[in-house]
Amino acid sequence: MVLRLQNVEVRYGAVPALRQVSMEIRRGEIVCLLGGNASGKSTTMKTIIGSVRPSKGSVRYDGRDITDWNTSRRVASGIAIVPEARRIFPRLTVLENLMMGAFLRRDRADVQADLDGVFEMFPRLKERSAQRGGTMSGGEQQMLAMGRALMSRPRFLCMDEPSMGLAPVLVEQQFETIQRLNATGITIFLVEQNATMALAIANRGYVLQSGQLVLEGTADSLLQNPQMQRAYLGT
Ligand SMILES: Nc1ncnc2c1ncn2[C@@H]1O[C@H](COP(=O)(O)OP(=O)(O)O)[C@@H](O)[C@H]1O
Ligand SMILES: [Mg+2]
Repeated sequence: MVLRLQNVEVRYGAVPALRQVSMEIRRGEIVCLLGGNASGKSTTMKTIIGSVRPSKGSVRYDGRDITDWNTSRRVASGIAIVPEARRIFPRLTVLENLMMGAFLRRDRADVQADLDGVFEMFPRLKERSAQRGGTMSGGEQQMLAMGRALMSRPRFLCMDEPSMGLAPVLVEQQFETIQRLNATGITIFLVEQNATMALAIANRGYVLQSGQLVLEGTADSLLQNPQMQRAYLGT
């Protein structure tokens, strides 16, 4: 088991944004989290990376209870996130943005090797390494956010709606990249509104509605599920 949420409740003030959420992500899987707007998808991501704390329940990673760990400690132990809307640093250069992902690391030689790996995966980032992040296109910023996450050398990568606002051809590329990363051994947790595409690459999926899980199962079973088809797949 890589990650386990157990009966997680998260509140922003009085209203719970997540209630009784339990999920498991196993080593090597691609698991997607689906759901409409405001269903609690980003809150789930934030609970995993530690930027919000549950009021009830626990978060376990690699067999350890990390509910009380801060974000840095989680990143140092191999969890990374590509946040919603990318959140790159617009005034920093592409290279500086990438190095922000490695700020906790002391293994300089390995950092350089990982930077070479990111540049190999995204040649555009190498070409633009001296350019400010904010001047890059949406698709390039998505590559940058992904490259930055990879610079922490994650074993568990969470991505919050990576396809948002991208042209279809870039969405395709994005999903191919996710599969390539998964093939290198990185476990992937993918939040998406594009359920059809997410289920096409995922092993399993969970569906949130108003902060509660309403469906879960293998990607195939979700694709075949009539409730799923009506509500999320438009078929
Ligand atoms: N910082 C916050 N303060 C108050 N309410 C919030 C905050 N962040 C999210 N919410 C609320 O929590 C619910 C879930 O939000 P979110 O997790 O962002 O959903 P999703 O990512 O599925 O769109 C929404 O009703 C949202 O308005
Ligand atoms: Mg969101």
